[in-house]
Amino acid sequence: MRSFVFSLRTPRVVFGRGTVAQLPDEVAALGKQRPFLVAGERHAVALPGAVGRFTDVVQHTPVEAGDRAAEAANATGADCVVSVGGGSATGLGKAIAARLGLPQIAVPTTYAGSEVTAVLGETADGVKTTRRAAEILPATVVYDVDLTLGLPVALSVTSGINALAHAVEALYAPDANPAVDALAVEAIRKLAAGLRGIARRPDAVEARAAALEGAWLAGLALGNVRMGLHHELCHLLGGTYGLPHSATHTVLLPHAMAIRDGELRRVADALGAPDPAAGVYDLITELGGPTSLRELGLAEADLAVAGHPEVLGPAWAGRRPAGTPDFHWLTDEVVASFAKAPDPRLRELMTGLVVHLHRFANDHDLRQDEWEKAIDFLTRTGQISDAKRQEFVLLSDTLGVSSMVDLLTNSRTPDTTPSAVLGPFYVPGPPEAEHGDDLGAGLPGTPLWVDVAVTDLDGTAVADAVVDVWQSNKDGFYDVQLKDLEGPSLRARFHSDAEGRVRFWTILPSEYPIPGDGPVGQLLAAAGRHPYRAPHLHFLITAAGHKRLVTQLFVDGGAYLDSDTVFGVKDDLIVDFAPQEGPTPDGRTVEGEWRRVDYTFRLATV
Ligand code: BEZ
Ligand code: FE
Repeated sequence: MRSFVFSLRTPRVVFGRGTVAQLPDEVAALGKQRPFLVAGERHAVALPGAVGRFTDVVQHTPVEAGDRAAEAANATGADCVVSVGGGSATGLGKAIAARLGLPQIAVPTTYAGSEVTAVLGETADGVKTTRRAAEILPATVVYDVDLTLGLPVALSVTSGINALAHAVEALYAPDANPAVDALAVEAIRKLAAGLRGIARRPDAVEARAAALEGAWLAGLALGNVRMGLHHELCHLLGGTYGLPHSATHTVLLPHAMAIRDGELRRVADALGAPDPAAGVYDLITELGGPTSLRELGLAEADLAVAGHPEVLGPAWAGRRPAGTPDFHWLTDEVVASFAKAPDPRLRELMTGLVVHLHRFANDHDLRQDEWEKAIDFLTRTGQISDAKRQEFVLLSDTLGVSSMVDLLTNSRTPDTTPSAVLGPFYVPGPPEAEHGDDLGAGLPGTPLWVDVAVTDLDGTAVADAVVDVWQSNKDGFYDVQLKDLEGPSLRARFHSDAEGRVRFWTILPSEYPIPGDGPVGQLLAAAGRHPYRAPHLHFLITAAGHKRLVTQLFVDGGAYLDSDTVFGVKDDLIVDFAPQEGPTPDGRTVEGEWRRVDYTFRLATV
């Protein structure tokens, strides 16, 4: 459990296309009239009423540049600052705002994200120091997607990965909380999708919008928690060695992530990658971004001075974080091999299966000997199966897959009787039986009177429904399991009468172990799982104009209801098999205790 204290610090945000035209209104909304513009020469912005402009925007916000800019703004009698540009322009705007106590409107043109944080990093004598203060947080941020359309792909990528770093650091910040987590995860999704879209088509407005939204959310996430090692190292390299800001973030991020253990699953999930650090590295490579500090111009000799060799060593060399070999090409190739399957459903299912299997192998570092064991297990599962023994069904059942498919197929209509797994012991075409017959005649066990009805959802009787029933004997065996038994036993086919009813005698079912002499039994034993099913009667009901129902009735109070080994029990199917003494419904004489079960099956129409 996490404890936290949280209050969201955020500027007012205006987001859209052409929103830069709203700047005069936003200045007025702050109650100001004399904006001072901070924007490099290449930004052709016209701000009506601007009292001055500072164009000497440089990276890493040197203290001396902040001083000069603040002086220039002060000289004009400015009452607010409007910054237009990347992180450096925003930073300089913050430097002025902090020195003069003026509100700032930031118009970011990259994916810096710093516009929504109350953090200012300034460089003096080669050292970048950051401070956080309420007055540093811009009052308003105007995001104009149109201003980002011309941002070169290379810069879009490094800037966007810089934003990704904000989200990643926010996720493992010591003071993170669920709100920050949600912002960060959504930021990662949007940034990855946006950047991929931009790499394909740099002027794609939707991709640009996704990246800008992602940058905003990432900044908001990090702006509300404490920063960690990644930002510390980036500031060190930027301040001391003058490395380019967003490119440094890009190179370092996978390596800062690689030294964290198991905390970044959510990054991997948001990226759709199996391994978080390698996933980010692969994304950067895919987008054509820089991967080594060497290519950014850092001398190898500087590494020793900078410290943190566990991060900076591999980052300098540009090594892909260890952990996973890059297998995406392999997954892609196998997926592509199914791309021309004429049946779209086959294509979809095989693609999903391949992707999940590859991820499974990777996530668990599957070894050759383990895979050979798995193949051997499946081989034996096949070898032991025949017309009477279905070990694959047993496997599917004990893994909960049968119940999963059953839920997906049959549980979308809450008013029908819940279904339950068919199991491996159904034999098609059971012997026809008459109402009142005794399926358990001559067999040991407590006599059981079954009185069930088949109806529509509105309670109308369904006549002439075909009702197949089957169950195990008192010792927990189905007839097909008993080698010496001739012919069917404890299984029958009834037809519902005009009232939709079926009545018959049988014996009370008992709990039983599923077959333990095959590979599935061995698996359960190896896992320390018991093999028992809770006591139940099986029904398979078909009727013209109705959906087929495969289900089971479980004996209330029976053993293993809470731990049925095939996960087949549903609360609505646990029913009273009430103990009785004395006269029976059809006048048959029964010595001692007998039981009765009454139940109405509700069928959906087709
Ligand atoms: C059964 O209820 O007959 C059954 C279901 C799943 C696995 C084994 C047996
Ligand atoms: Fe059964």
